[in-house]
Amino acid sequence: MAKQRVLTGITTTGTPHLGNYVGAIRPAVEASRDDSIESYFFLADYHAIIKATDPEQVRQSSREIAATWLALGLDTENSVFYRQSDIPEILELTWVLTCNTAKGLMNRAHAYKAAVQANEDSGEDPDFGITMGLFSYPVLMAADILMFKAHDIPVGKDQIQHVEMVRDIAQRFNHHFGEVFTLPRAVVGDHVAVLLGLDGRKMSKSYDNAIPLFESEKRLQKAINKIKTNLLEPGEPKDPEDSTVFQIWKAFATPDETADMRQRFSEGIGWGEAKKQLFELVNAEIGPARNRYNELMADPAFIETELRKGADRARESASRLLAAVREAIGISPMG
Ligand code: TRP
Repeated sequence: MAKQRVLTGITTTGTPHLGNYVGAIRPAVEASRDDSIESYFFLADYHAIIKATDPEQVRQSSREIAATWLALGLDTENSVFYRQSDIPEILELTWVLTCNTAKGLMNRAHAYKAAVQANEDSGEDPDFGITMGLFSYPVLMAADILMFKAHDIPVGKDQIQHVEMVRDIAQRFNHHFGEVFTLPRAVVGDHVAVLLGLDGRKMSKSYDNAIPLFESEKRLQKAINKIKTNLLEPGEPKDPEDSTVFQIWKAFATPDETADMRQRFSEGIGWGEAKKQLFELVNAEIGPARNRYNELMADPAFIETELRKGADRARESASRLLAAVREAIGISPMG
């Protein structure tokens, strides 16, 4: 039986934080080591330029994200790790799919609708600041996914609609031109924690409440010390379910360690002490990778070699799929 194929992209606009690590990177690194599945992970740099207009931001973020994944032990033999922009076939497929995508479908995309709504709310023209890139964003995502016949797409909740749209686009193409594409589905892991941030809301770059992953041991400690808590004193019992400190603890601890911490909460562990222990736990898990990360950031040529290796493998299947697509639509050699 063909292996299950998992694929996901990471938009290169930010620096990975602890929430990205727990929610996406750690499970993906595990998947990369599982030889019962084929995994495809890529830097979505052509998605990045939809939002980011600062070239330095895109360059820096691409480097940081690649170094992070490699430092955490991504298995680049067993998985395919590449940069979207190294696969020109993806952009060719994007055009073909664009011609098979209903405009009405794109009108319904949440990200686009939110941008229009924001314009209307502020009395602007509805199209203000909206590029064709933002409007067509799900088509590029469709090309990313359909190119590699991926089955499972691990994504955050905000991306479920996009994956549904990819199914629609694939179905429409298959209906007209034959069964070329595999229909993907979004996989939203409910067993993986959505980490809370410093202020108790979901950890996110856009809320400015994130705990950095690899900045430095000191910065990690400082950030953990800033996690918002209530005013209960040491000795007063505390409710673990209501605590960001405990929630993050759980994402890093074994079940036994979690049970112990629950006990210490009921015995009234002080916030300072709980945070100290949390720092030690998190740092023990990510500390060794942080050293590796720093080495990689100082050695971009190594990162480049890894990405090239991934791109070569990705292009092999991409060129085959694209040939089948062209054939299906009537663009093929004349003899
Ligand atoms: N749009 C996704 C995000 O912002 C990133 C992405 C691009 C992606 N292409 C993809 C995710 C293909 C899954 C599959 O999170």
